[in-house]
Amino acid sequence: MRKLWGGAFKGSSSDLADEFGQSIESDLRFWREDVEGSIAHAKMLGETGIILKKEANLLVKGLKQILKEGSDKLPRDVEDIHTAVEERLGKIVGPVAGKLHTARSRNDQVATDTRLYLLKRLAAIQVEVKALQGVIVTVSSDHKNTLLPGFTHQQHAQPITLAFHQMAHFWALQRHGWRLEQVSEVSGYSPLGAAALAGTPFPISRKQTAKELGLTAPIPNALDATSERSYVLDALHSCSQIMIDLSRLSQELVLWSSPEFGWVQLDDSLTTGSSIMPQKRNPDMAELIRGRAAKAIGNYSAVATMMQGLILGYNRDTQDDKPPLFESLDLTERSLALTRMMLETATWNVEAMEQSTDRDFSTATDMADYLARNGIPFRQAHEIVGKAVRTCQERGIGLEDLTGKDLKKISSKLDEGVLKVLTPKGSVKSRTSEGGTGPSAVTKQIAAAKKHLAKSGFPT
Ligand code: ARG
Repeated sequence: MRKLWGGAFKGSSSDLADEFGQSIESDLRFWREDVEGSIAHAKMLGETGIILKKEANLLVKGLKQILKEGSDKLPRDVEDIHTAVEERLGKIVGPVAGKLHTARSRNDQVATDTRLYLLKRLAAIQVEVKALQGVIVTVSSDHKNTLLPGFTHQQHAQPITLAFHQMAHFWALQRHGWRLEQVSEVSGYSPLGAAALAGTPFPISRKQTAKELGLTAPIPNALDATSERSYVLDALHSCSQIMIDLSRLSQELVLWSSPEFGWVQLDDSLTTGSSIMPQKRNPDMAELIRGRAAKAIGNYSAVATMMQGLILGYNRDTQDDKPPLFESLDLTERSLALTRMMLETATWNVEAMEQSTDRDFSTATDMADYLARNGIPFRQAHEIVGKAVRTCQERGIGLEDLTGKDLKKISSKLDEGVLKVLTPKGSVKSRTSEGGTGPSAVTKQIAAAKKHLAKSGFPT
């Protein structure tokens, strides 16, 4: 295996050690960013007079050729991507390629490459977040009056609408969008020119390379620039947060598509059958998203644990931040897309949902609220409603079946006026407070959501 070092070594490294340390395979993900970083560096070397202008031009020309010919021409039997690019450049431009590494190190290079690659991936994930939000708004707009039981403790609590429920996921995604925006912002600084750890005696311009690469500014301290991996941790953490929410959404789809619920049917394109039970339609994509959230959480935990004991300065340990980072980015992007596809093609069984709210006592709070509105202390109201629930249960009826006469018998404080909030529809309609499930409140929420959707990206 070819390396960029070894002059001071008498013996050669063992094959196992070479193989153990090789990162070319995962580095290939950011081969393009490695070349782009080198182009910025080479230009700067020419402009500051550190190397001759014509040498710089030659380097840039060769590097641009590498960009054009693609990664297939890069050697694989080398230690890492930096070695591969330099070797390929040597084949194209000759010995002048050896000047490219003036005033830099692989330590600042790899941190720069990873940041540049990460910024692109974060932007792509934001696009997926927005696309999923768009579908959620469409589903919500169609289902402002679709009733279903809202749960607490996974027990029927109060009736809500499907729009209200879906919009809860919308705002979670909005937070993810904002979080990704912040991660992009703090990741957008340049380590390039930090060299190995202590800077360089050459009169480089770090401002120029940062600008050329579209980064905000150079990281002020070279030791920090080459040591720190907070951008990896921020990204891994954001991915795990997204995956946690997608996992919860998936669990709802798994539950809701089960025969006991029958609230939703997922499309053929995203479900699988059983090799033995012909009747089955399994929600595999939702299950895989739910399960793989574990990987995203594990990846964050693995890199955080790896980082916590490291002293300042480059440590080889950090080479291993990349496979988990790439895995989490891929997983998150694909899970967002699959969730969008599941919601886009889902068939909602409106009748089954509404039926579940039937005589489920989920309007008990409405009865208590009604009494409280008529001046009865809520504690006392709660007790009266408890009595009403018991009466109904004894008679095998629901709250909505009570007559005026029944009500009077339960308490002199109850009258027929309460009947209109005892139906799930009446209950939902009455919840007009900001952020509530009432269709008028949800309409406002959707309008606010659409304003966010119309903006480009996730401005904070
Ligand atoms: N493959 C290495 C990594 O990803 C590149 C930096 C190597 N630097 C070094 N001093 N060996 O971290």
